Amino acid sequence: MKILLLGSGGREHALAWKIAQSEQVEKLYIAPGNAGTANCGINIPMKADDFEVIKEFVVAEEIDMVVVGPEDPLVKGIYDDMKNDERTKDVPVIGPSKAGAVLEGSKDFAKAFMQRHNIPTARYQTFDGEHLQEGLAFLETLKAPYVLKADGLCAGKGVLILPTLDEAKKELKEMLGGMFGNASSRVVIEEFLSGIECSVFVLTDGEHYKILPEAKDYKRIGEGDTGLNTGGMGSVSPVPFATKEWMKKVEDRIIRPTVEGLKKEGISYKGFIFFGLINVEGEPMVIEYNCRMGDPETESVMLRLKTDIVDLFQGVADGNLDQHAIEFDERAAVCVMLVSGGYPEAYKKGYPITGIDEVEGSIVFHAGTAMKDGQVVTNGGRVIAVSSYGKDKDEALRKSFTEAQKISFTDRYFRRDIGKDL
Ligand code: AMP
Ligand code: GLY
Repeated sequence: MKILLLGSGGREHALAWKIAQSEQVEKLYIAPGNAGTANCGINIPMKADDFEVIKEFVVAEEIDMVVVGPEDPLVKGIYDDMKNDERTKDVPVIGPSKAGAVLEGSKDFAKAFMQRHNIPTARYQTFDGEHLQEGLAFLETLKAPYVLKADGLCAGKGVLILPTLDEAKKELKEMLGGMFGNASSRVVIEEFLSGIECSVFVLTDGEHYKILPEAKDYKRIGEGDTGLNTGGMGSVSPVPFATKEWMKKVEDRIIRPTVEGLKKEGISYKGFIFFGLINVEGEPMVIEYNCRMGDPETESVMLRLKTDIVDLFQGVADGNLDQHAIEFDERAAVCVMLVSGGYPEAYKKGYPITGIDEVEGSIVFHAGTAMKDGQVVTNGGRVIAVSSYGKDKDEALRKSFTEAQKISFTDRYFRRDIGKDL
């Protein structure tokens, strides 16, 4: 089988690593990929959202399956674009239709969807620029802190949590006034939920689903969960509070109603659903949906998936995922992210990375790297994920921290407290 994987981050390297282990794979292409994915397959310099170029490649190389890593091409409708083209309509795409990707692409749609299907989430209302006064009045009915979310995609920056009513009112005015451009022309205001977060992933064929190992990610740049939000500084799987009982609540109240709700609403969805959950006094509630795998969660979740992922993808394509078994590795898996100094604010690129070859017993996933004159160099804020197994998370973390020390580049930084809160 020939597979084309779209994307270029740590998530895609982890997916490529897992896909490449499948005996069913004859050729794996990654577009555009990074210096690490080149070790799992062939990098192709195509943008993940250049649909015409991608389709031509799919036809020319007789690709049997396209796996979409990031949300951008999904929200822009790559699934529909391929289905509506005679040449590519029969090539399975692992990823939802444009209508399904709206679960991530519009916070207002996601909230209304949850409300329609009685899925537990924070109380909310959505306002546009013409209803600023109503929005300000709604804020007054809530307690601090205040949560404001730009409706559209904002590369993870569209959520503001404000400690006081005055600040919330000021930010609401600015958001509706175009602070995030069109993405904040509508703003979701919601109740603040207090609890620990957990990322749960399923793979669905639109009818059946398989639950993948859950994970916790660490969003803030600083130790002790301080400082600015990042794409994610590390992840841990399993999550101790995600017990069998808790996961049953998640499945009964959240996963099944979501998959059934999509089906009832006639939304084609064949791909990953990422449930961003929060544990509020033992009860799972949804913070957000994403239409893809998490990053850096994938860099630990893939280690815990024993099953051939291509076999599961085939079940998604054929609509018989229920006939495919899924098996987890009982060990813990973690990932520690090495980032560029300055990230998530301004940082420099192009620093040589040394020591990757000295890593033993951990798996190195490239997140933001490139090849320059035969040398691997930094090419992003998040640079390298060091993933490890252990009999428990502490053993796995010790391993990742030890191995991470071997990898050097100018101004390298990583959090040394990943997993310590669990
Ligand atoms: P989102 O992009 O919706 O995942 O929001 C980004 C982050 O903001 C989440 O990972 C949470 O940490 C936080 N957050 C979002 N909504 C809420 C809420 N209703 N209550 C508390 N924290 C929230
Ligand atoms: N780690 C969170 C995300 O991928 O959105």
